[in-house]
Amino acid sequence: MIPVTKPFLPPRKVHDSFLDTIWENNWLTNSGPLLNRLESDVQGRLETSNISFVTNGTIAIQIAIKALGITGEIITTPFSYVATTSAPAWEGCSLRFADIDPNSFNIDPDSIEAAITPKTQAILATHVFGNPIEVEKVADIAKHHDLKIIYDAAHCFGVDYDDVSIFEYGDVSTLSTHATKIFHTVEGGFIFSPDLEVRNSVNLMKNFGHDGPEVFSSIGINGKNSEFHAAMGLSNLQFMDVILAKRKAQYQLYETLLKGNNNLQFQAIHPKAKYNYSYFPVVFTSESVLLNVQSLLKENQIQPRRYFYPSLNKLDYVEYMPTPHAESIAERILCLPLFHNLEDKDINRICDLVLRAI
Ligand SMILES: Cc1ncc(COP(=O)(O)O)c(C=O)c1O
Repeated sequence: MIPVTKPFLPPRKVHDSFLDTIWENNWLTNSGPLLNRLESDVQGRLETSNISFVTNGTIAIQIAIKALGITGEIITTPFSYVATTSAPAWEGCSLRFADIDPNSFNIDPDSIEAAITPKTQAILATHVFGNPIEVEKVADIAKHHDLKIIYDAAHCFGVDYDDVSIFEYGDVSTLSTHATKIFHTVEGGFIFSPDLEVRNSVNLMKNFGHDGPEVFSSIGINGKNSEFHAAMGLSNLQFMDVILAKRKAQYQLYETLLKGNNNLQFQAIHPKAKYNYSYFPVVFTSESVLLNVQSLLKENQIQPRRYFYPSLNKLDYVEYMPTPHAESIAERILCLPLFHNLEDKDINRICDLVLRAI
């Protein structure tokens, strides 16, 4: 079976040396030395300002919403993983959906502007599959309407925009380091903010609001992560250059084999991006073609994923607002397998089958 993704596992020796440190320190969680080192190493590698390691990329969005004081209406994208919608809904925020650009798959700034109401407090936009949104346009809209910006940058490890880390844009950006991501800590996530005060609030909020053992300076939750997750992160960090280079070569092989075909559409990556090649999505001419492809791949023990399907404005716990581009792309898009030890011969076979099925 070839799955859509497989987690990278570092050599046991590398990981075990971090486990030895945990045993020596007898420190398992609550801002331990490995967690602090991971925050500092990730910050150094990505050249970002303020960073906080949390339990996962979903709680990262929830804490970001709280830290920015957002309690009401948020404009968001219908084309993302379900957490982009469920996290703000869980926080009791009301959602308005703006349509996406059918080429970049990112929320379209013009449609954000059209969705704003007097009650809107924030924009929650995803850099879909690591492809940066037009951050300047979103910043202009936010400034004009006095809105906060949260970027769900779950897929963006290693992505730069205009030679600056993508995590430096907006009021807050969140990253997922779930096992399926290009850089992972088994479970985990990071919150980035250019504003030190926001990071300080995040650090209080992720630790129950504790400001000392007997003082609680704000509402809080348990969003802390552990020394074991930090150990996996520190191990994987040592291999990121190799992982990113391999991913680029695999992505380019997919492109070479499929791009000439006029019945396939690919994601348009922003020209100012330094991209991380984390996903290889393909859009077919119709859902029935997609289903043919999926079924032929399945017969051959290959398991792509319908990322992202369904369009999130169709979830039964949100108010439906039509977003024709997102609905159409969601019905026709498939992410093809992409992971570190996927071999060229497998990519060749997958592409042969895709072309045969269409
Ligand atoms: C776009 C997006 N946002 C948020 C999340 C949630 O991250 P996590 O699984 O770490 O909670 C994911 C995870 O797959 C994602 O793809």
